[in-house]
Amino acid sequence: MTQQVEPSHEMWSSRWLFVLAAAGSAVGLGNIWKFPYIAGENGGGAFVLLYLVCVAVIGVPIMMAEVMLGREGRRSPINTMMSLTARFRSNRLWVLIGWIGVIAGFLILSYYAVIAGWALSYIGRMAGGTFVGADTSVATNTFEDFLGDPLLMVFWQTLFLLITVWIISKGVVRGLERAIRWFMPLLFVLLVVLLGYSIASNGFQQGWNFMFSFNLEALDQDAVLVAMGQAFFTLSLGMGAIMAYGAYLPSASSIAGTVSVIAVLDTLVAIIAGLVIFPIVFVNGLEPQQGPGLMFVTVPLAFGQMPLGVFFGALFFLLVSFAAITSAISISEPALAYLVEKYKLKRSSIAIVLGFISWILGIGTVLSFSSWSDFYLFGGLTFFDSVDYLSQNIMLPFGGLLIAIFAAYVLPKNIIKQQLGFTGETGMLLWKIFCGGIAPLGVLFVFITSGLGDLFITLFSSVK
Ligand code: PHE
Repeated sequence: MTQQVEPSHEMWSSRWLFVLAAAGSAVGLGNIWKFPYIAGENGGGAFVLLYLVCVAVIGVPIMMAEVMLGREGRRSPINTMMSLTARFRSNRLWVLIGWIGVIAGFLILSYYAVIAGWALSYIGRMAGGTFVGADTSVATNTFEDFLGDPLLMVFWQTLFLLITVWIISKGVVRGLERAIRWFMPLLFVLLVVLLGYSIASNGFQQGWNFMFSFNLEALDQDAVLVAMGQAFFTLSLGMGAIMAYGAYLPSASSIAGTVSVIAVLDTLVAIIAGLVIFPIVFVNGLEPQQGPGLMFVTVPLAFGQMPLGVFFGALFFLLVSFAAITSAISISEPALAYLVEKYKLKRSSIAIVLGFISWILGIGTVLSFSSWSDFYLFGGLTFFDSVDYLSQNIMLPFGGLLIAIFAAYVLPKNIIKQQLGFTGETGMLLWKIFCGGIAPLGVLFVFITSGLGDLFITLFSSVK
């Protein structure tokens, strides 16, 4: 009963391309836009430490589990879970893992496209010289004016979704591989250039201290949940994106090695982004806790003061848009692959439908920054914050919890050994400790201690 399933999709042309694609999925707005702003909102240091711990002890094992399940099932997450539960005669409810991923994917893509639209629109603004020699007020006002113009935001959101739909229509190998091969390394280089600027600025020490002074007292209950959610989000975990990509990974590649490379790359990008942004914040007298606009105010300020800033600034936002596209593609892959398998329709027709649903949902996020800014859903959060909170802090960790338990306890030992290349018993023991113990218990622990129970009470008392 444990024979390999024939793959029904194309394959990555090499392990290296899988690394690039998975890194393309992981590295995105989560690292460059979101990590600095939520680290800022949560007081820096201690939050950063928690995030790093979550990446290492929860994220890495769960990522290995996802790749493994995907490669064993060789289908979309939903069908992979269907076939694995059938093969190993386990409860059909595990297919929930696949469905959580599809729903979380829509929620995430809906706002992801809006923020990526901001990045797209900033390419032109940078190139047009809006920020040359600009001071804090110019940078802040430009961003606020933009937020107050929902139609313009919808325009950029639409453009971003159109590009994404176009690329995913082309299929994983052709569409993705080409896009990723060049832009990822370039983005990295540009971040390092910006880092050089930050190091040379007077605020570097302060920025560094903000990020690495581990003052645990600065943390409130919720910060722990946000740090864990961020670890899931930034590594693209808990919703089947990595599982879907794992389905295209050739059987011979080592999972542990591959996953470590991706996790290290992803973390490095986030930390560099933070080290770029916080010194600029302090040198310019900005507030670290100013929220989602952080990157869009600080980065233009830095380029505005640099020689050739117009060119490099435009290039930076171009590359951020690319990083966002390679992530957006992976966010939609679980749903897309499932629908392709189920209805045997063309990828392009399905891509259009998926894009449309995300577009409609995304309008709520667009309006959260203007006419709906006083409209609160759960627990006093705006529409955007609610969608973000629900998907990142609840659905992804919950999906990850189920994935870890399934991969540690339901999957037969011989499959685990074969997938992870374990020969002796030590590997298996470590797997049980990390994937079967620390990772799921960590998620549960954070859920319980973060006052999620309190949240549900607020949730229900605020929906009248
Ligand atoms: N990891 C991506 C980022 O950091 C976002 C993402 C989340 C992608 C979930 C896929 C799945 O931007």
